[in-house]
Amino acid sequence: MKIAVLAGDGIGKEVTAEALKVLQAVVPKTVVLEVSHAPIGGAGVEAAGDPLPAATLELARRSDAILFGAAGEPGDEKLPFDMRPGASLLRLRKALGLFANFRPAFLFPELADASSLKREIVDGLDLMILRELTGDLYFGEPRGVTPEDGERVGINTMRYSESEVRRIGHAAFRAARLRNRKVCSVDKANVLEAMQLWREVMTDVGKEYPDVELTHMFVDAAAMLLMRNPRQFDVIVTGNVFGDILSDAAAMLTGSIGMLPSGSLGSGTLGLYEPVHGTAPDIAGKDIANPLAAILSVEMMMRLSFDLPEAADRIRRAVSSVLAEGYRTADIYQPGTRKVGTREMGEAVLAA
Ligand code: NAI
Ligand code: MG
Repeated sequence: MKIAVLAGDGIGKEVTAEALKVLQAVVPKTVVLEVSHAPIGGAGVEAAGDPLPAATLELARRSDAILFGAAGEPGDEKLPFDMRPGASLLRLRKALGLFANFRPAFLFPELADASSLKREIVDGLDLMILRELTGDLYFGEPRGVTPEDGERVGINTMRYSESEVRRIGHAAFRAARLRNRKVCSVDKANVLEAMQLWREVMTDVGKEYPDVELTHMFVDAAAMLLMRNPRQFDVIVTGNVFGDILSDAAAMLTGSIGMLPSGSLGSGTLGLYEPVHGTAPDIAGKDIANPLAAILSVEMMMRLSFDLPEAADRIRRAVSSVLAEGYRTADIYQPGTRKVGTREMGEAVLAA
């Protein structure tokens, strides 16, 4: 089992260190675990003058799975795209063809009171947002800021090809078959041509999965229903931009962005696993970041890339039990629980 650890910047380094300890603890003794570290983001610029150094990309390609922390620094967006630490992850996903981003949102019962919504709305919440990751406004050409009629105009292009929609569609229906056999495709087909094509192709792919229920929803309605009745959803499949926003909103249903793992897959076997959150410069270096999103990303890795459900279950149970014992980082702290730092939370999970 070859794992590339790309911890990146800010709290990425802190939470990845805890996740790696858990990874090393759950991998069965019969498996030879080979862990390599490489710089990415601001750390990549420091080490090699490039947020995504060639050696880092090479290591990632040769691995079975990547454990990624977070990349990005304040003021990033002033730099050209390829020099932005925060863009290194986009480039890595693109280079590795990781087009399917799985973002589960489930509620640990112990955290029901930390949710932004009432307990009766979120109790038992368990949904999967599948976000297309390599197309859409984030990559479409043309892009840039150009002069036009005496002023500057900012341009990005929403763009999806049939084959791009088809492959994420198949990933959604396959995921639904392992869950509750419901797919909700979220688009904005009433206004956007790219999304009209999206809906057409999704409908077509759906015909190959007669055992899975397919519904379509506009993104604005989906945002509303995600807050009003999130348990109605099983798998939500959507484009890069809408998926980015909806999954962050879903994060609030579960208490904190510090609890949310994710996994990205392509057509091959290589997977990239990472917390949904970023580098959190406001809390970096203080040993207060929640490492559970990173630790739960290792759970996803065990399940999706290595078919080791027992190792995955051990992680989930360990997290449940430390929450039940009252351990809380600051982001999920409530009076009457025990406030701990990043390392102490990691150690508690490890012990459990
Ligand atoms: P962020 O996710 O880093 O932080 C948003 C808020 O959530 C902050 O208040 C932060 O303190 C809090 N937070 C995030 N993770 C937490 C954790 N584990 N425990 C406790 N609190 C946590 O998003 P933001 O502030 O928009 O971006 C900061 C930097 O991170 C930017 O440079 C951005 O480009 C980068 N970024 C990188 C991502 C990645 O590498 N996957 C994803 C999102 C942002
Ligand atoms: Mg986001």
